[in-house]
Amino acid sequence: TEQYQNIVVEHRGRVGLVTLNRPEALNALNTALMNELVDAVTAMDTDPDVGAVVITGSAKAFAAGADIKEMSSNSYMEMYAADWFRRWEDLTRLRIPVVAAVSGFALGGGCELAMMADFIIAGDNAKFGQPEINLGVIPGMGGSQRLTRAVGKAKAMDMVLTGRFMDAEEAERSGLVSRVVPAAEVIDEALKAAEVIASKSKPAAMVAKEVVNAAFEMGLAQGVVFERRVFHSLFATEDQKEGMAAFSEKRQPEFKHR
Ligand code: CAA
Repeated sequence: TEQYQNIVVEHRGRVGLVTLNRPEALNALNTALMNELVDAVTAMDTDPDVGAVVITGSAKAFAAGADIKEMSSNSYMEMYAADWFRRWEDLTRLRIPVVAAVSGFALGGGCELAMMADFIIAGDNAKFGQPEINLGVIPGMGGSQRLTRAVGKAKAMDMVLTGRFMDAEEAERSGLVSRVVPAAEVIDEALKAAEVIASKSKPAAMVAKEVVNAAFEMGLAQGVVFERRVFHSLFATEDQKEGMAAFSEKRQPEFKHR
């Protein structure tokens, strides 16, 4: 199995579990961690034995942001030439479902990483924030765009301009997270959700993710047509035949995930 320095990769049945593991820096997202995380989940994305992925951190911090110390002395030209943070976008191109399990701090790039997942399950101790303004910068991993789509202009402006943190209760009320559970249960809850997803037809789950994401890119009429065409396409899968036969025969479906 692969040797990683900044993450721990496990397989729990059909679920891939990736745990960020830089406890000395509250999982600050440096380039090495980014490369390992993207490599690991990219491999899972095309692994027929993986049906969903969970990304989590520690009890104290999902991730306290991009690594400030790594970039603090960089010049404009170094940031531009490296296209700093570009590779994080690869996480938004994954086709299998991804759940973020957030305990503790999800700040800056940590909040932005969580928002790249398909949904977020938060522990009741979670703190979300985009505090880059306190460093004389702004979000750089998509936060201004994804947070605004998730919680609307009022709360996004409030958080990005003041740098204040949002607790788990406010995050759920605002639509940033799908569920809040006791902090000690957040990984189990995310693994259970991912297991449920991984037990469904994989082609159906993959296109379900694709069509929901299309809602952020397409107009309503175009999006509804896209959804209908993709719905039609599932009638080419074995899993559709099995799923509908199982319903008629009053039994549980046995999906082949293809
Ligand atoms: N980058 C680098 N190191 C970090 C870090 C970060 N984002 N966050 C925490 N650390 C390090 C600290 O420097 C400290 O290391 P040392 O022990 O070597 O000093 C260690 O992690 C523990 O952190 P603290 O001692 O600060 O822990 P705390 O409990 O007192 O405070 C905290 C926790 C409030 C989260 C505080 O660590 C903090 O404010 N961190 C920075 C949050 C932040 O500004 N994030 C945005 C980063 S910029 C960004 O993300 C850009 C983007 O859009 C992608």
